[in-house]
Amino acid sequence: MVNMEEWVKRAESIVGSGNVLTSFEDIEAFSHDEYAMEEFVCLPAAAVRPGSEEETAAIVRLCAEMKVPLTARGGGTGLSAGCVPAAGGVVLSLSRLDGVVDADPGNHTITVQAGMTLHDLYQHVKEMNLFFPPHPGDEGAFIGGAVAANAGGARAVKYGTVKRYVTGLQVVLADGRIVELGGKFIKSSSGYNLLDLMIGSEGTLGVITRVTVSLLPSPGIVKTLVIPFADVEQAISVVPSILRADIIPCAVEFLEHSVLRCAERLLDKSWPARDGAASLMLILDGRSEDEVLSQAEDMAAIVEEGGALDMLLAENDSRQADVLELRSMLYEALRPGTVELFDICVPRSEIAGHVSFVHELEQRYGVSLPTYGHAADGNVHTHSLRCRLDDGIIGEEIPGWHETHEQVRRDLFADAAARGGVISGEHGIGLAKRDHLTAMLPAVNLDLMKAVKRALDPDNILNPGKVVYVDV
Ligand code: LAC
Ligand code: ZN
Repeated sequence: MVNMEEWVKRAESIVGSGNVLTSFEDIEAFSHDEYAMEEFVCLPAAAVRPGSEEETAAIVRLCAEMKVPLTARGGGTGLSAGCVPAAGGVVLSLSRLDGVVDADPGNHTITVQAGMTLHDLYQHVKEMNLFFPPHPGDEGAFIGGAVAANAGGARAVKYGTVKRYVTGLQVVLADGRIVELGGKFIKSSSGYNLLDLMIGSEGTLGVITRVTVSLLPSPGIVKTLVIPFADVEQAISVVPSILRADIIPCAVEFLEHSVLRCAERLLDKSWPARDGAASLMLILDGRSEDEVLSQAEDMAAIVEEGGALDMLLAENDSRQADVLELRSMLYEALRPGTVELFDICVPRSEIAGHVSFVHELEQRYGVSLPTYGHAADGNVHTHSLRCRLDDGIIGEEIPGWHETHEQVRRDLFADAAARGGVISGEHGIGLAKRDHLTAMLPAVNLDLMKAVKRALDPDNILNPGKVVYVDV
């Protein structure tokens, strides 16, 4: 039996008494992330906020010595219950590690502590006159968490996900040693790629304390287009032609107008397209206004051929911001009626088939499964609801929603696998999808994942029970 009183005393001697939290009011916020339902809420025994990398390492060493499970936590914006302390023990918040370590415009890199919010990172990078492309959505996320989940976002079509930009990490290992992986260089053929192993490991293999990312020149001009279609199938069917053009859009999102109603009500703003039942939202960027407008003209010809009803260019920055806000608030808008938000990713050519399958499930089970997402990435967000949804209003609870939800989830994941896809494209496995990952992975892949976990964390101290379950 762990003596938590002793742990607290020793942790206080490392980080100071104000940075070890134990009262219910103080630790309640560390018991959940942004997962919609309460089923995974777990209160830690304590939360600790180290003020440096060395303090972080000392806390991990203490946990290793006393066999106290430790769950690292970033901004808490995750959607898969990845940072809840499912095995009890303590939560280690990276919130005080929020500084710039090294801004290096010459190398186009910035190294920051893991607890910096994406919002602050974008500001620092802007001051360098450079650009960090990934935009996973919630700017309150910490960069360490975005790396730990290999977060994605809408701009992945042109710029890829977070992993493309991570060139270096500092990580505290399960025994408290600090390891530097990678650096500021772009290329490395020097041994096993431990850097990439940490990306997407969700705090189960180490605690990320510093992140070095490579940066791009700022694209300058960004324009958003809204293109309505008669239905969502038609909207998605145009995406291959868009991707065959010699312009790569930053983002190609698909949305159904009935789903948008929820965000329109929440924000009291309206989607610019009134015709049709679905829209594509395209983000284009380039060095000059003329360049982007000429891209938009090329796109107009392609989508017209594909049956677009119109093409609307957000005419000023504030209109553009409204469109982006309506899109990015969809999860928040639907969340009160949501059991689970999926983030299945299928090969691009399979996206139309997968979305049709979602509609088939709606018919089969008599439920509504609002769906939108990153069309050109094959990354689809389907909401499994526990409440009725009518004209953007979340209504009464559906009797028996629990069984239907389980069935819908099984069917969706099976369809993803049959199409050569994965069950999570950008939100991570966490606790919410762990058993499904286990059930779906070939035995050899699962064995390898468990072997990696055991090699790096033999006592199962770090975020135990997440991603894959291992016995000690
Ligand atoms: C989005 C988040 C939920 O795409 O991934 O809105
Ligand atoms: Zn998304």
